[in-house]
Amino acid sequence: MADTVIQQGTSKRIGSVEELIKKLRAAEDEVVRLKKEGLTKSALPENEPTYTIVRKLARDVFKDAIPTKLQPSDLNFPVEVVVWNEPHPKVPVIRPEFTFDAEKLTPILWSIENGYNSALVGPPGCGKTTITEQIAARLGRPWFRIPIDGEMRRREIVGGFKQVVENGASTTKWFDGIALQAMKLPAIIDVDEIDRGDPDLQYLAHQLYEGNGITILEDEGRVVYPHPKVAIMATANTKGRADGMNLYALVQEMSEATRDRFAFWIDFDYQTEENEVKQIRKEVQNLPLNTATNIVRIAGAMRIALREGKLRSAFSYRQVKACARYAAFQTAILHDETKACVESVKKIIVNRGSDEAESGAIAELARKVMGDDWPAEENVNP
Ligand SMILES: Nc1ncnc2c1ncn2[C@@H]1O[C@H](COP(=O)(O)OP(=O)(O)O)[C@@H](O)[C@H]1O
Ligand SMILES: [Mg+2]
Repeated sequence: MADTVIQQGTSKRIGSVEELIKKLRAAEDEVVRLKKEGLTKSALPENEPTYTIVRKLARDVFKDAIPTKLQPSDLNFPVEVVVWNEPHPKVPVIRPEFTFDAEKLTPILWSIENGYNSALVGPPGCGKTTITEQIAARLGRPWFRIPIDGEMRRREIVGGFKQVVENGASTTKWFDGIALQAMKLPAIIDVDEIDRGDPDLQYLAHQLYEGNGITILEDEGRVVYPHPKVAIMATANTKGRADGMNLYALVQEMSEATRDRFAFWIDFDYQTEENEVKQIRKEVQNLPLNTATNIVRIAGAMRIALREGKLRSAFSYRQVKACARYAAFQTAILHDETKACVESVKKIIVNRGSDEAESGAIAELARKVMGDDWPAEENVNP
């Protein structure tokens, strides 16, 4: 019975439980051997650009992206920066407008350097995913986001067999999914939304956290071992979201070994009102201060309402920016800041409500923030 299951699960590549165990043992020995030998550059996939590693002071790498004045002790430690012989397609570009908080950055960089994982926890749209991307950009590391909430199938993440034609004959060939591609590089892997993980992918994620390689049952139990510099970061929403598994339950469910690999659970939140206004005015040309403040305040009120369960729609910074850009555009057309602000808030924020009741609730929050500037008898669904 078990043999049949294994044969089915591996498309007859593995015939029996005995064979599977033998393969797993051999794979384990291989991992031990490779770990002993230490991985060298030759472990990089073919045609991959080559790299060298230089050590730089973290403060020099990040200083232009920290909005506050750096204290002498801030980020005063070396980090490894990967320098490629030609641009690596998976290394993200630096987004100059993205800002970091030195205090949060320190444990994250330390984890990356020392082979620990760190988990970033915070509400949707506060910048968790982007911080992992932007750290990769500055450290020259290839970056991969692995969503485990079901957005991507296991086949895309781990890999699978494909029919290919070789020398005129059709044959099946294994292709690596993004997790396997990432693991062969000195990459930063963002395991995204770990508290909403699909159970099947959750298991895969745990293998990633533990860092001993991923066993690919589909491919004869082959083990893909991680590049020694691969760094794992995980992101999660705050505990107790109604539609996701709660973080507390997730942590409870992790084995001791998995939990051990997470050195830090770092709390993230939206920027303060003052910083968000500053940020948005830096990014959006010709945005009146009043408009920026109104939009950020409405966003703040919506985030509180979301936390209290009164709204279902989040208001991420991405939407703040879209709203601000549209408001700046409208201001140039209408020559009336207030009208332009109302127009943009209505079109971009109020209309995002998932139904009329929610749109009405959002309009009410906007009215509270803008007072008499918000038109009294407005149809909230223009
Ligand atoms: N500190 C920041 N500086 C600049 N942009 C930010 C910052 N934090 C968040 N953002 C922007 O907010 C948007 C949402 O961020 P994202 O990383 O997707 O959030 P999360 O993963 O927490 O849901 C992105 O467009 C990101 O660039
Ligand atoms: Mg995210």
